[in-house]
Amino acid sequence: MPHVELKNVTKRYGNVEVINGLSLAVEEGSFTALLGPSGCGKSTLLRMIAGLEEITQGQCFIAGTEVTDVPPAQRGAAMVFQNYALYPHLTVRQNIAFSLSIAGASREVQNKRVGEVARMLRLDELLDRRPAQLSGGQRQRVAIGRALVREPKVFLFDEPLSNLDAMLRVQMRLELAKLHQSLKTTMIYVTHDQVEAMTLADRIVVLDKGIISQVGTPLELYNKPANKFVAAFIGSPAMNFFKAEIAGRDGEAYSLNLPGGRTAKIVSRGGTVPAAASVDVGVRPEHLKLGPAGAANSHFDGKVSIVEQLGNSTLLYVDTPAGQLIVEGEGNLKIAVGDTVGLSLDPAASHLFGTDEKVI
Ligand SMILES: Nc1ncnc2c1ncn2[C@@H]1O[C@H](COP(=O)(O)OP(=O)(O)OP(=O)(O)O)[C@@H](O)[C@H]1O
Ligand SMILES: [Mg+2]
Repeated sequence: MPHVELKNVTKRYGNVEVINGLSLAVEEGSFTALLGPSGCGKSTLLRMIAGLEEITQGQCFIAGTEVTDVPPAQRGAAMVFQNYALYPHLTVRQNIAFSLSIAGASREVQNKRVGEVARMLRLDELLDRRPAQLSGGQRQRVAIGRALVREPKVFLFDEPLSNLDAMLRVQMRLELAKLHQSLKTTMIYVTHDQVEAMTLADRIVVLDKGIISQVGTPLELYNKPANKFVAAFIGSPAMNFFKAEIAGRDGEAYSLNLPGGRTAKIVSRGGTVPAAASVDVGVRPEHLKLGPAGAANSHFDGKVSIVEQLGNSTLLYVDTPAGQLIVEGEGNLKIAVGDTVGLSLDPAASHLFGTDEKVI
């Protein structure tokens, strides 16, 4: 039985439909990321699970009980917000204990629980400070502590790390992963950061304009995107796309006429046969191989227009007949702006998308 379930949920603000007949089942103990661009409905979805936003149509279940009309405090879900939402006039200890004191827990129980949570989140030394006396990362840990102390059935996180600087974000990401490993509580985590989703979640739900675009493990989404939206959204630098014409079909393999006059054979991923001859080819920067210009086995020749040396890899922006393609090479690549190179596609790691943007 799923631990959190949305059945055919629709959300409308006035006559604007934000979520459109969405169904989703989240397994107990899993870490699920809701990933998508700004405005696609991630927060709305999470707030409907928390009970902070009314569901226009459809149902929500937590631990087998329908909670569609149950008030937030009685759902067994605790939410951590992007802006922390701490009480500024209360100390860390009082902030963490707040929900317990509202629920009428004894002073003894409060102290015990706050002590446990503070140890887990390394806040022991900070219990008597107020939020203004804490760093961003510490405030975020207090916000998590406040959720933790309630011993919820489900944790709901809405972009909890986006106010932190890059280093702290990586550190807090590890702490959240550890927290999930030790608590094994169901977590649903909203983010527009694909790296966060890929590293934290065991399952990612990609949302596009209020509709689920694809659900899968991080590597399923990376290696087998079901459509162009997921292909473009997952991976950094993003996948390259260009148009090609289908010249023929040999079993599962399509022969393509590439821009610039050469041909390639790419194996289908089991999608429907395309209606039109024109397809979009998608290939990730690390799946374009560099070679000498004019080589017999290359698919494009191109001129390097930008070189970005990142240390562990080099990104080349190469102008080809297929447009500008980004190529990821080794860190110590000896290639300069203006050089001409040959590029070959890895046919096993290239993707074809039809005019409906679905994978072929
Ligand atoms: N109270 C409201 N009234 C009308 N429209 C709203 C309201 N709240 C949200 N929306 C709209 O619903 C859509 C989804 O909003 P939501 O906050 O869920 O997006 P999001 O995916 O969380 O985006 P972000 O990554 O920017 O936080 C947006 O187009 C937004 O403008
Ligand atoms: Mg949001």
